[in-house]
Amino acid sequence: MASAFPCRSLGERMAMSSFDVLPESQTLSVPPGSEPSPQMPVFEVRDVFYRYEGVTALEGLSLHIGRGQRVALLGANGSGKSTLLRLLDGLCFPEKGSIAFFGEPLNPNRLAQDEFSFAFRRRVGIVFQNPDVQLFNPSVFDEVAFGPLQLRWPKERILQRVSETLEQLGISHLKARPPHRLSAGEKKRVALASVLVLDPEILLLDEPTASLDPQSASQMIDFLVGWRGGSKTVVMATHDLDSLEDIADHCFVLANGRLVGEGSPQQILGDQALLARTHLLHVHRHLHDSGEIHSHPHRHRHCHEP
Ligand SMILES: Nc1ncnc2c1ncn2[C@@H]1O[C@H](COP(=O)(O)OP(=O)(O)O)[C@@H](O)[C@H]1O
Ligand SMILES: [Mg+2]
Repeated sequence: MASAFPCRSLGERMAMSSFDVLPESQTLSVPPGSEPSPQMPVFEVRDVFYRYEGVTALEGLSLHIGRGQRVALLGANGSGKSTLLRLLDGLCFPEKGSIAFFGEPLNPNRLAQDEFSFAFRRRVGIVFQNPDVQLFNPSVFDEVAFGPLQLRWPKERILQRVSETLEQLGISHLKARPPHRLSAGEKKRVALASVLVLDPEILLLDEPTASLDPQSASQMIDFLVGWRGGSKTVVMATHDLDSLEDIADHCFVLANGRLVGEGSPQQILGDQALLARTHLLHVHRHLHDSGEIHSHPHRHRHCHEP
């Protein structure tokens, strides 16, 4: 059965966004006097079900994401991480259950309201796993300037923010290049720059280091760890257990669209049974001097001398 609320493409989302009808000064996220309490979760996901044309992706998922939390979504391929990120970004909606954003329902009716939609899009940014779905401008500069232009920022401000953001991500030298002719790692940085240029308060990242070479992956991690001194809310789907303690302070483990584990990176990394059950350990083969090949589940750890 087709889902009642199929995921929208970025282009459709742009078309339905209110960027072109509301001036930037109208950034009201919450009416004056009703600033949410610091305890109010950024996202509250309650008993959410989602299906793609008969394929169940999420099945009764409930979780909270607090303000300023850096959350890792862990789980095997197909466990529902990307679907959850799309739901949190309001690109698709639960078939059953609900999602609240700072206590306000995140549903098609709310997002059809310009005021709510505009405020939501200003506060939440998403970077997809595949940058090709995110990049559509003729040059890197145009790509990164696109959001600010839609918001009708003054020209000087656009030039300054784009140049700062390109600098931060180490891609200033690419600014005249067409995004679709860049390497996978370069495209990832451009996609991230096109979101960070607007300085979102909440960042949703789908496997930011996937398909990057080790050095680019490590630069990406360094950037994300240092971004705004860790003050922002970040929700990141990842398989990168090595960086977990650096990039996250809370983890949710998904399997078959359900929450099967939750805790600090230390707790999750210490739970070998959970990691094995959810296919997060990989098998390493060693050739011993005797000629015997021995394999066992393993994950990499790096130890630093004190
Ligand atoms: N566009 C789609 N059409 C049909 N099924 C999909 C689609 N996208 C994802 N799925 C299915 O939904 C489930 C969850 O997928 P996904 O959220 O992409 O998981 P993950 O990101 O953890 O790999 C999987 O069974 C997957 O095959
Ligand atoms: Mg995914």
